[in-house]
Amino acid sequence: MTAPKALVAGNWKMNGLKSAAAEITKLNDLIDDNGAMCDVLICPSFTLISTLCDLNADHVAIGAQDCHANASGAHTGDISAAMIKDLGCGHIIVGHSERRADHGESNDTVKAKAIAVQKSGLMAIICVGETIEERKAGEALNVVTNQVRASIPGDAVIENTIIAYEPVWAIGSGLTPTAADVEEVHKAVRDVLIERFGVGGSQINILYGGSVKASNAHELMSVPNVNGALVGGASLKADDFYGIISAYDQIG
Ligand code: 13P
Repeated sequence: MTAPKALVAGNWKMNGLKSAAAEITKLNDLIDDNGAMCDVLICPSFTLISTLCDLNADHVAIGAQDCHANASGAHTGDISAAMIKDLGCGHIIVGHSERRADHGESNDTVKAKAIAVQKSGLMAIICVGETIEERKAGEALNVVTNQVRASIPGDAVIENTIIAYEPVWAIGSGLTPTAADVEEVHKAVRDVLIERFGVGGSQINILYGGSVKASNAHELMSVPNVNGALVGGASLKADDFYGIISAYDQIG
């Protein structure tokens, strides 16, 4: 099995109305005209998934930001992986730090959701990352590798799993770790993946997320074991997001 292409994924979080579909059309046109050396994904709110999937943008895959761990049932307001798949999505983010914080999601919950995603035949993008207090206490590697061990299902393979390392303090703050810090964490994540999944673990994509923008994308995406980006704010506008995607023109 050959390693997957790098992935630049956008997480629109709780942003975007139907008019935001124009950004997907624009992004698709930019890629059509100028190319992309990586795969491209946008994860909008649930309310926009259908609209964006129906655009059939051939260069921009559409995914979701969360799902319930159960396939169906009495869970008012929740959405299952099967429902998301039914709309045409191939990816679901689970365990984003905003869900871990706002909704009290534990590693067990995240793992259960990742299993649900995988059982549906979709790709789980499993998020991990330390807080600023944990980093200052010298605990970043411990926290992240523990999250990886506890959040990832036992049968992770490149067809069903992507990891996203997002230091909580770098999200939306304009702050980023140094390239050396990113390298250290991604290497630690890679080591856990290889320890658990052997050769397959050496090929699972590990994305970096947290204040990625066009101006820092090349440096961050060039770090060993960084196989793409998970982008919040800079994914909302096609021009900004394409600036990150085009960092891969020099990386290959
Ligand atoms: P920002 O790119 O806005 O820092 O957000 C990162 C993120 O949380 C993506 O999931």
